[in-house]
Amino acid sequence: MADPSAGFSAVFSQRMFRRGALYRVRQFWNGARSLLGKADESLAEAVLSPEQLALFRRMPADARFHSLAVLSTLHRQGAVAQDLAAAALLHDVGKVAATDAGAYLGFWLRGPLVLLETMAPGWLLRLQDARPAGRVRYALHVHLQHPAIGARWAQAAGCSALTCWLIEQHQSKAAAGPAEWRPLLERLQNADSQN
Ligand SMILES: [Fe+2]
Ligand SMILES: [Fe+2]
Repeated sequence: MADPSAGFSAVFSQRMFRRGALYRVRQFWNGARSLLGKADESLAEAVLSPEQLALFRRMPADARFHSLAVLSTLHRQGAVAQDLAAAALLHDVGKVAATDAGAYLGFWLRGPLVLLETMAPGWLLRLQDARPAGRVRYALHVHLQHPAIGARWAQAAGCSALTCWLIEQHQSKAAAGPAEWRPLLERLQNADSQN
């Protein structure tokens, strides 16, 4: 006799997959939109120190657009503390490590990568190569490690311990850290997933 719970879990996983795919499509569309227009960066100028702003400006236009959109989403939801605002603006800056090594991790690769991450995350882990080089395999490594890389750069640019922790944990599902910091991480992750 068929197990009714098996049917339920199949429907549940299909729904979760559809939800993940829809989010990725929306993220791709937002990225495409960012290539068409110039973002108003005055928000970043008001939040970041000159050194942090220089770090922010190392990101390509679509990543800056995404970061500003994350901060705007947070602002629409209520007051945004300085540490959280800085994390919103710099959370993806670690991806620049790929460009530094001559590897492409630009807009056109990020869409397929996030889809692959949703459907077969084990592949990315197996294919990545941590040795800096202008190869796709190093781009995969940076894609997976950009939270830790970005947190190190943010610390060097004088960001607070809380901002660095938020950047480091922005893709973690079970982040370890002070209890009072976790609601801020949840806000950042929600705003990130909406953009
Ligand atoms: Fe990220
Ligand atoms: Fe992001």
